[in-house]
Amino acid sequence: MRRHKTRNIIVAAVLGLLILHLYKFSSDDKIVHLNVKEIHNQRLQLTKESSSVYSWSNCQRNNSAANITGFGSLPQNIRDFLYFQHCRHFPMLLDLPGKCGGANKSGEVFLLLVIKSSPNNYDRREVLRKTWAEERLSNGVWIRRIFISGTTEAGFEKERLNKLLQVEQQEYNDILQWDFSDTFYNLTLKQVLFLEWMERNCPNAHFLFNGDDDVFAHTDNMVVFLQSLHDNNGSRHLFTGHLIQNVGPIRAVESKYYIPEQVHKSESYPPYCGGGGFLLSGYTAKVIHQMSKSISFLPIDDVYMGMCLAKAGLRPVSHMGVKTAGLHVPSDKLDPYHPCFYKEILLVHRFLPAQMYLMWNRIKDSNLSCGPT
Ligand SMILES: *[C@@H]1O[C@H](CO)[C@@H](O)[C@H](O)[C@H]1NC(C)=O
Ligand SMILES: *[C@@H]1O[C@H](CO)[C@@H](O)[C@H](O)[C@H]1NC(C)=O
Ligand SMILES: *[C@@H]1O[C@H](CO)[C@@H](O)[C@H](O)[C@H]1NC(C)=O
Ligand SMILES: *[C@@H]1O[C@H](CO)[C@@H](O)[C@H](O)[C@H]1NC(C)=O
Ligand SMILES: *[C@@H]1O[C@H](CO)[C@@H](O)[C@H](O)[C@H]1NC(C)=O
Ligand SMILES: *[C@@H]1O[C@H](CO)[C@@H](O)[C@H](O)[C@H]1NC(C)=O
Repeated sequence: MRRHKTRNIIVAAVLGLLILHLYKFSSDDKIVHLNVKEIHNQRLQLTKESSSVYSWSNCQRNNSAANITGFGSLPQNIRDFLYFQHCRHFPMLLDLPGKCGGANKSGEVFLLLVIKSSPNNYDRREVLRKTWAEERLSNGVWIRRIFISGTTEAGFEKERLNKLLQVEQQEYNDILQWDFSDTFYNLTLKQVLFLEWMERNCPNAHFLFNGDDDVFAHTDNMVVFLQSLHDNNGSRHLFTGHLIQNVGPIRAVESKYYIPEQVHKSESYPPYCGGGGFLLSGYTAKVIHQMSKSISFLPIDDVYMGMCLAKAGLRPVSHMGVKTAGLHVPSDKLDPYHPCFYKEILLVHRFLPAQMYLMWNRIKDSNLSCGPT
């Protein structure tokens, strides 16, 4: 009986694999055919709408960087950073010139969600599109969504990931992609490329949320908070999130955040907000972009934002609702994912797609009763 069962299972598994293989084969084929046409259409569309963004030639690596003292003993990613630190323009692969209804109409966008996402993170983008990043009217004002991306991998794998983004773009129209390597130390570049795009295509959006694709962001609460700023409709300074101050560069070479003296001499950083997610006004976005033109890149993107603010004489401020270091639940007898802990916050890091989907639905449940707060 037992052996019989095992054999059946094996037969079923082999059949299953075969079917999967055949299916994969035929569906791959379809996708390839589809894409050739799509790419063609997209190229036509893009060149028509925004040919200017295609005119950047590839930025050359600065070989003199190798002459910096101690260059040979720096880790590869820092060396890459130093070689390409001066590069501020990369060809655009996917554009959204009409996202805000054109520059003149962009004042109709109240909150623009700008989410850093690398090509491989399809599952995260998919769940954000139907949860907190859904484009919608919230409390009477518009929320719009943009994912910002570079490229990853090389050869066929790079092409396949670029195709994935093209297919997503066809369906959702929510991706900006540039042809630079989407690494941790290139996030500052991504950030600045976005600010430049915004100045051109969405200059009058009132507020921005800038964050990662693995955070839970309560965007309806964000709208309510931003609407409560009675003296600021986006035309004055605002930069708020998880405030970090009195820290400096980490000199331990093993750290993800390692910054050697060759990159940042000073032992301190200006105050900044953790890059998991922060809110800023359209005005402040413009100021940061302006300042960035004369500040050389630091590869830690959130610190770099702080450097731009400091140069403009502006300060970031703390918002208690932004929990980029996770949420503190008062007792281990309580469910750390109970929706009542999340109803009042603005942001929590970090959430997996399934948790995100469930939490968004639970906090929207009109029957959710959390008692007095
Ligand atoms: C590096 O420095 C050496 C010696 O100072 C110099 O001869 C060489 O031209 C420099 N290389 C580059 C690429 O600047
Ligand atoms: C290239 O690197 C050298 C050494 O850091 C620097 O002095 C020079 O300004 C850099 N050139 C450019 C174009 O950034
Ligand atoms: C935007 O507004 C400016 C000034 O009112 C006008 O000159 C320009 O033609 C408008 N652009 C578009 C695309 O409507
Ligand atoms: C940033 O992107 C450029 C262009 O793809 C790449 O050459 C460089 O190595 C990247 N820098 C880092 C630090 O990954
Ligand atoms: C925002 O407020 C300023 C005054 O502080 C006003 O001049 C401006 O027209 C307002 N902008 C919008 C889009 O309401
Ligand atoms: C809320 O509770 C009522 C009464 O128990 C129930 O009929 C209704 O389906 C619930 N609504 C949701 C969204 O669960």
